[in-house]
Amino acid sequence: MCGIIGIVGSSPVSSRLVDSLRRLEYRGYDSAGVAVAANGRLERRRAEGKLRNLEALLVEQPLPGTTGIGHTRWATHGAPSVRNAHPQMAGRVAVVHNGIIENFAPLKAELIAEGRRFESDTDTEVIAHLIDRELSGDVDPLTAFQAALGRVTGAYAVAVLIQGEETLVLGARRGSPLVVGEGQGEMFIGSDALALGPFTNRIVYLEEGDSVAIDHRGARIFDRDNVAASRPVRVVSAASALVEKGNYRHFMEKEIHDQPDACQHTLSAYIDPITATVSSPGMDFATVDRLMIVACGTASYAGMIGRYLFESLAGLPTEVEIASEFRYRDPALYPGALCLAISQSGETADTLAALRWCKARGITTAALVNSHESTMAREVDVMFPTHAGPEIGVASTKAFTSQVAALTALAIAAARQRGRIDAAEEARLAALLLEAPRLIADAILDDGWILPVAQEIAKARDVLYLGRGAMFPLALEGALKLKEISYIHAEGYAAGELKHGPIALVDEATPIIVIAPSDALYDKTSSNMSEVIARGGRVVLITDAKGASHAPDGATVVIAPACDPLIAPLVFAVPIQVIAYQVAVLKGADVDQPRNLAKSVTVE
Ligand code: M6R
Repeated sequence: MCGIIGIVGSSPVSSRLVDSLRRLEYRGYDSAGVAVAANGRLERRRAEGKLRNLEALLVEQPLPGTTGIGHTRWATHGAPSVRNAHPQMAGRVAVVHNGIIENFAPLKAELIAEGRRFESDTDTEVIAHLIDRELSGDVDPLTAFQAALGRVTGAYAVAVLIQGEETLVLGARRGSPLVVGEGQGEMFIGSDALALGPFTNRIVYLEEGDSVAIDHRGARIFDRDNVAASRPVRVVSAASALVEKGNYRHFMEKEIHDQPDACQHTLSAYIDPITATVSSPGMDFATVDRLMIVACGTASYAGMIGRYLFESLAGLPTEVEIASEFRYRDPALYPGALCLAISQSGETADTLAALRWCKARGITTAALVNSHESTMAREVDVMFPTHAGPEIGVASTKAFTSQVAALTALAIAAARQRGRIDAAEEARLAALLLEAPRLIADAILDDGWILPVAQEIAKARDVLYLGRGAMFPLALEGALKLKEISYIHAEGYAAGELKHGPIALVDEATPIIVIAPSDALYDKTSSNMSEVIARGGRVVLITDAKGASHAPDGATVVIAPACDPLIAPLVFAVPIQVIAYQVAVLKGADVDQPRNLAKSVTVE
């Protein structure tokens, strides 16, 4: 995750770019840079390390100009260094970028074949070249920018400066956040409202797929089809800018939309997209004989998905236990075991107690946590981070998908370390995993189905969720989400268990939500659906387009993006979150602070 800023100002801009980057340093601080358009030229300054290095450089080598862009970097493609720092430039174009360009390798090869020379290892430089190539076709900057983005796949946000255009900054968001700020005769774009805090509190939250051109006259915004669009201006107070809801009604809704960014930032801690290698910093899974995952609630369901991955990919025996039960059965411990706690807060009392119990018995401990300064993070031997950012809604969404993303990466790393896969397979799996942020963004966008489905679920007293394989934990998670925020009774079952009891509950008043991508298990789950429909049950099938074409008659079908089974738990998490959210909204429930719950449960 990186921070980006762009200013079309009426006074010198470089120190203001730095002010803003200071507020964005939480998003990354491997390097920082700024570029300005002045005197018919583009000029930039970049420095490795913390922002203060860039500040010192700007004292020695000041920049003129009233229009500029800036960046603080969290390295993904290419080591932290000056040459990989942003802005990246090509010809007439300078770009700052947050996110990952998935198809950068073929695009780079295409551009090199045309004689273009690359100076960095970044995927960002490809964007600069693409825009510069379009500009040589004698089109206006905005058209060139939009055409270039049409070639790019991935989840990202960008800000762009064009040589000779000294009162123009272009921006776009696809899966990563970007806001516009309206000042007095000045305009701004940035990763969040906080970044624009020193300049304006009048904020426009761009929607998914939007692009924007800012100049002294204001902002021209275009939707994902490049059609002119209008977005409301909101006045954001300084205090709320830190954790703001933006255009969203609830934090949970915002956090669902944060997921492409959160997932991407988390993956960058484990995957090097250039070498296509996956690491598990601080841990060699070849030394681990058994994995014991302890967690509560949603985090335990992430752990269950992790178990499928660690066992199938890495051949590592893995058990998952609800932390509140773990100690009380006096578990048999293996000397070569690793106890892995999973927790958003890093403070959950039950999980912490299980971790300490293992530690006291000489077991190596690790924690996958979102709060990196938490008690768990401090007490374990190895801390694996998720980078979901602050999660405010009590119902966990982006923390969950970030946990699943990190566990998937760790399982790939473990598979390689344990000799189960070779480098080519590691690279293939890494590339698949890096598609997840874009596909999560697609799943969030494709929500035209939600209202009738939510209206039907909202009427129910009981709801069943079914899934097979890694979709079974997702069924549990779907049921938990619905219960906690809409107060509708819901249960998740393994699809094959239905006939062993729960099928007695099936009647026309009990919707059954079946999560079944078109994978090797689809046909079996389809038989379970038919059993339900034959008994008068109402099935809502969440599947992909191929699965939809084989859906049993009578099922209501929700289509999610097609994806590899490796990342299906990440992509299919979105519809189940959206269902729970919309049902709770329809029922008028307190979505972000449901009754009787707390975000962090620090009592046993
Ligand atoms: O902070 P933690 O991840 O340790 O929290 C664990 C559970 O309390 C948490 O996941 C809870 O189940 C959520 N409210 C679910 O949405």
